[in-house]
Order: sequence, then structure tokens, then C-alpha cells
Amino acid sequence: MRSYKSTMATPIRLLPREKRERCLEEAGYNVFNLAAEDVFVDLLTDSGTGTMSDAQWAAMVRGDEAYAGSRSFEHLREAVSEVMGFERVVPTHQGRGAENVLYGVLIGEGDVVPNNTHFDTTRAHIAENGGDPVDCPIESADDPDAEGAFKGNLDVESVRTIAEDVGAERIPAVVLTLTNNSMAGQPVSMANVEETRELADELDAAFVIDACRFAENARFVQRREDAHADRPVAEIAREQLSYADALVMSGKKDGLSNAGGFVAVRDPDLFERAKQRAILYEGFPTYGGMAGRDMAAMAVGLREAVTGEYLETRIRQVERLGERLREEGVPIYTPVGGHAVYVHAGRALPEIPLKAFPGQTFVCELYREGGVRGVELGSFAFPGTDRPELVRLALPRRTYHDEHLEHVVESAKAVMDRHVTDGLEIVDEPDNEALRHFSAELRPV
Ligand code: F0G
Repeated sequence: MRSYKSTMATPIRLLPREKRERCLEEAGYNVFNLAAEDVFVDLLTDSGTGTMSDAQWAAMVRGDEAYAGSRSFEHLREAVSEVMGFERVVPTHQGRGAENVLYGVLIGEGDVVPNNTHFDTTRAHIAENGGDPVDCPIESADDPDAEGAFKGNLDVESVRTIAEDVGAERIPAVVLTLTNNSMAGQPVSMANVEETRELADELDAAFVIDACRFAENARFVQRREDAHADRPVAEIAREQLSYADALVMSGKKDGLSNAGGFVAVRDPDLFERAKQRAILYEGFPTYGGMAGRDMAAMAVGLREAVTGEYLETRIRQVERLGERLREEGVPIYTPVGGHAVYVHAGRALPEIPLKAFPGQTFVCELYREGGVRGVELGSFAFPGTDRPELVRLALPRRTYHDEHLEHVVESAKAVMDRHVTDGLEIVDEPDNEALRHFSAELRPV
């Protein structure tokens, strides 16, 4: 049962089917082009779309908007120290701002950066700085049916092999993404975090954690790793991060805020360099592109995110959506991850060949059937890769109720029952193919 009640209501409406079909056509069969008002249940992302608590709203009113020396920054710094165990914090406007700041000072031309799996913006920032981002997930991660408590783990042996090939001196950093968003939101075990620490020491590389969903990861460790079963999640969350040299964080996920992010580091010299770069791209180091009130909200949100009650409600809701979809015969990636359910659209729409984008077709059909917005993470988003054809249904935190999710299940089932055979083709796409899923336009074939 939910561990909170709602005292603010945001109206949503389900447009009639003909109107939804018109919206889809006008959007070029790309749901990024839809007006949010025309969406009934919006599962595009869990980033910045959640519901804040009364304590967060109260903190916002007292946000200190000073350019330098803001009290709200001090509150954020204290929260990061208490919850995450890092004393040196550089605030940024969101997660990718943190990536720009940290990777801009850590990575140089010709470097190689292993990660369990790079998120799109992480990959782009490492490449932008001349680095080669290499994904090193464990073997079972790509298999949507494989069992495994921690399919998000880094394959440390494959990183050792890379180091032997290219030379350890070319690997300035090893990154671990908790949970592994680009790998169906799968968690990473505490044992794997420890192994990654040892690996980084061997390579004399910095160990960076992408901590966007660190609290959700800690809850999986508590439930699935025997040694940690009796510990509070807050303690586990802190321990996971204690092995790292640096963090990049998007407060829009487990900061429970609508904006913001930060870099946190241990080394004073790295701190100075990160601050200088932040001044250039983000803002003075006591606000970094955030309003004081946003820092205040995130400071409260970080503490709420590591409470057992909150995490129980959160993870169970995602898990239940997965269970219900499976019960209705909708194929999904298993086990269900932390922030989203990933539908296996290739299996859901088997008659549509890969070149006609079954994943993107599923996304459009889900909107047509129920005004539900998900996002394709397969052949349309990642051209030229052989990843499974997945559609992500990400749950905003503390936002939708069970009946909304039941509506999502019914809509997905309706898509399956219609045995759709018409796929899509691209009619217009941007020069940068890697970013095409945000803006390309398509039409039915
Ligand atoms: N790292 C990971 C693992 C992420 O999932 C994201 C964002 C970022 C970094 C960048 O953070 O958006 O604050 O700049 N993920 C969102 C998503 C956009 O929908 O998965 P940001």
C-alpha cells in the first residue's frame, strides 16, 4: 500500500480515439512531438516528472536565491554528505551537466572508458571529450529471459581484457551506473561495486558512480544480497557509494526533484578543476544552474529517497506493473528493474520486421489504444546495434495510481490483441543519427 496520500490533484484526460489518431499523425509518429496535455498516462520518463512531498514544497518556499554562498546550497551539501558520504559537491543544472563537468576534466583524447552500460548522454559526453565509451555488461544482461538478481553488473573481467589490449594508462576512469538504465534498469550488487573498486585500483583509474538511481539500487541489494538483508537501505545506499572516487548525479531521479544535479568528488584537486569547469558551463559553484529553491527541494528529496517506506512503495509499484503485464501475456524483460518495465516489442509484434521498427510501432499503438506514452529503446533509438527491441514504460515517482497502471495493462493487451502488421518508416531525421529518436518523423507502411 502507498506510504503517503495525495493532497494535490493534477487533472488528466483521455482524448477520444479519433483525436488521438490525429495527434499521432501530426506528431509524425514520434511521441516526443506530442503535447503532454494530449497524453493520459505519461510513462516517457521517470526523470523530473515525479511528485514532490509537502516537506519538499515547504523547503522550496525558503529557498535562498543568493548568487554566492546560498544557504540552500549549504543544505544540499549537508544532505549529500549525510546521505551519500561525499563532502565536495559541485551543483549542476541536471545530470548531463554533471557529466560535462566531470568528464570534461577527467577524459582526454584517445582514452577508453568502460561502464556497465553507458546512458546516451554519458556516452555522448565521453565521446565529446575524445574518449571511447565501451559497454561492459555481464553476458546475461542482453537476454530478456535470463534469471539473475543483478543483471546490471559490470563484467570486470572484460574490462581487464580491454586494459591488456589498450594499456591501463589509457583508462582514466571506470564507471558504474546504478541502476543500469540502458540495461532495463537492472541493479548492481554490492559485491560488484567492491570488485569494481579493486579493478580501478589495479588500473590506477578513478572509480565513478552514476548515482541517478542509487536509492532504488540499494533496495535491490537489501532484498537480493543476503549479507545486506538486515541493514537499513540508507546504510546500504551510503556504503555502495563509499567505494567511489566521484559521483555524477541527476537529482531528477533519486533526488526526487524536478530539476538539478551535481558532481561529488573526494580529491581536492579534482574538486577545484571541476568547479572551474562548472563556472564556465553551469554557474557559480554555489548554485550551478539551479535555483536556490531547487537545491532546497533536492536536499529534502535525497533524504526521503533512502527511506524504507518510500522505496517499498516505489519498487513494488514498478514490480506490480510488470507482473500484471505478464499475466495478460505482454512479453517483458525479466526480472523487472527499478524504475521501469521494459516491454519486449519484438515479441509483442512478431509480424513486423526490424526494419519497420516494431518497438516504435508498439509505442504508437499504445498511445492509439490508451493515450499512454512510453519510449522506444531498440532499433529506432540505437541504429546499427543488435540490442533487444524494447519499449520502456518508466514510472514517475509517487505520481500514478494503480488504476492508471491497470489502464496501461489493458492498453498494452489491446495492442497485442490487434495483431498489428503495419510498421513504420522514417520520412525525416536529423543529421546526428544517434539522437534521431528525439526528433525524427515517421509514417505507417
Ligand atoms: N545517467 C543516467 C543513468 C540517466 O538515466 C540519465 C537521464 C542521465 C545520466 C542524465 O541525466 O537527464 O538529468 O541530464 N535519464 C533520463 C531518462 C533522461 O529518461 O532515462 P539528466
